[in-house]
Amino acid sequence: MTPSIETSGAAIVFNGQAGRDYTPAMEAILSDATFQAARSAITSWPGYAPTPLVFMPKLAHALGVGSIAYKDESGRFGLGSFKALGGAYAVMRLLMKRIADETGQTPEMADLFEGRFSEIADTLTVTCATDGNHGRSVAWGAKLFGCRCVIFIHKDVSEGRKAAIEAFGARVVRSAGNYDDSVREAQETATREGWFVVSDTSYPGYRDVPANVMQGYEMMAFEALAQMDDLPTHLILQTGVGGMAAAVAAHVWRRTAPHRPKVILADPEAAACWYETIAAGHPVTVGGDLDTLMAGLACGEVSELAYDILKTGADVVVRLPDRAAIDAMKVLAEGACGDKPVVAGESAVAGIAALAALMEDTEAAARLELGPRSRVLVFGTEGDTDPAVYARLAGRTGDEVRAAATAWEKRQ
Ligand SMILES: Cc1ncc(COP(=O)(O)O)c(C=O)c1O
Repeated sequence: MTPSIETSGAAIVFNGQAGRDYTPAMEAILSDATFQAARSAITSWPGYAPTPLVFMPKLAHALGVGSIAYKDESGRFGLGSFKALGGAYAVMRLLMKRIADETGQTPEMADLFEGRFSEIADTLTVTCATDGNHGRSVAWGAKLFGCRCVIFIHKDVSEGRKAAIEAFGARVVRSAGNYDDSVREAQETATREGWFVVSDTSYPGYRDVPANVMQGYEMMAFEALAQMDDLPTHLILQTGVGGMAAAVAAHVWRRTAPHRPKVILADPEAAACWYETIAAGHPVTVGGDLDTLMAGLACGEVSELAYDILKTGADVVVRLPDRAAIDAMKVLAEGACGDKPVVAGESAVAGIAALAALMEDTEAAARLELGPRSRVLVFGTEGDTDPAVYARLAGRTGDEVRAAATAWEKRQ
């Protein structure tokens, strides 16, 4: 059965600057050493477990590729998205630095969990702007390590997502404008109040914290490679500010240097800053209200650090209409082709939708060598992070899909 993912309206742009060298400038952002530090911390956190890699052989066959591996982040630390890896790790690093500055000692992980420096942790307020998932991670990290937390959300963030952040004890402030306006408001308030911004995006003069965030994200790529028998030939990575895509691309690139798999970015039509940036050959800001259903990808400005990696690390960008994402959510929820049903949220499915769009365009697919021998790795970056939105779009609830997945497993 051919999955019905409506991709008309999708657009594809190839990157004229794509390259093969993982340069010293990239090493300075993401290296094996910085990843090992993140890995040893994150794997020691309570509740750590690798997330599953789900193979979708029937969907792969229907779309015309050799294999599709879907890294299902819906269960990550019980937060519902891969973002748990990044913001919380950056909070931990900030706290460790403050403890080292104040005591002259480098704390151990156990010191943090046993509250040995709780008085210092209580003096640290972390803040960020978020479309939901990053703020949830920062709030969770603040709670885990005993810091204070204030999170800024923009006008389109759903009440469900707001409540999920508040559940970790953070104060949530709703700003009037779009995502990029909330980023500025968080920064200005932090400067005034002496708080620390834990942003997942970087800009001139602000790179260390978002680099830590990206080092945490690499965990997802590390696990995925360990779960595959052969290296992927293609990565398809959805982009908000691009931090996730850059972290995954960089990790896989270091493991495969001087070669690397083809890197395909997937950007929503209403917030296509990566599409415009790669088309122009320099960072381009996209304005407007960035109103896409793919809430996690609703960003108008690329992250500086991500651009440093993806300006040569990306081969192509696919710009997707929301319709394609909704269809892909349904395909995965139904297990439409006979594969295991998966709870894939609005921002999780862009990789599958982009693959469908590329396979419709025979010229683009041929240029990318996408075909029956391709091993495609996609990242299902969230589950039903907003259960009501998910049920409305996927046509069934997350619980129904999880029950269907269990039944599917029993039949195997
Ligand atoms: C579920 C989900 N997927 C993907 C992304 C994109 O990550 P980035 O902004 O680092 O590109 C986000 C960002 O919030 C997200 O929440």
